[in-house]
Amino acid sequence: MANPETLISEEDILARVEELAAQISLDYADKGEVVLIGVLKGAFIFLADLSRRLSIPRHIEFIAVSSYEHGSMRSGAVRLVMDVRRPIEGKHVLIVEDIVDTGHTIHYLIDMLESRNPASIRTCALIHKAERTEVDVDIDYLGFTIGDEWVVGYGLDYDEKDRTLPYIGVIKPADQ
Ligand code: IMP
Ligand code: MG
Repeated sequence: MANPETLISEEDILARVEELAAQISLDYADKGEVVLIGVLKGAFIFLADLSRRLSIPRHIEFIAVSSYEHGSMRSGAVRLVMDVRRPIEGKHVLIVEDIVDTGHTIHYLIDMLESRNPASIRTCALIHKAERTEVDVDIDYLGFTIGDEWVVGYGLDYDEKDRTLPYIGVIKPADQ
């Protein structure tokens, strides 16, 4: 099968990641260490590229969640599959997500991590599907806004396919 059509090129992604890293480095310059929490699996490539471009002390953690499904419909309920390895109390936390779709996942993560009393908590997402919002969440650092379409590559998958494409591509209904 042909590769998915390009929506955001590798060059554009990396230029934006560079800008986000510069902004985050500036904002956290006087804060000491930031704990970057990548949301598996989708955020692993974004987190790798972003973290390597920061000029501030950072500590890397991962967390994994999954959405409850009712048949083929996602219910909006989120379940923790893997937790971070270290306490985050008193730490500056930055959640790093691949994509914010309905907002349920990031909302769940903010709530859960906030209850552990970090010094601060902010969010960074590569992509936001603004039209699909069901729960309003502030994304402090955002790469790109897209429409209601299924995207793959740069960590994002469709049924585990196309996760390691170097660019962000669109899956057309005919490809599904
Ligand atoms: P939510 O609807 O904001 O809770 O998003 C849930 C999760 O669904 C995201 O973190 C992604 O892992 C996944 N997801 C949503 N839209 C896409 C997409 O277009 N491509 C790949 N994964 C997606
Ligand atoms: Mg995700």
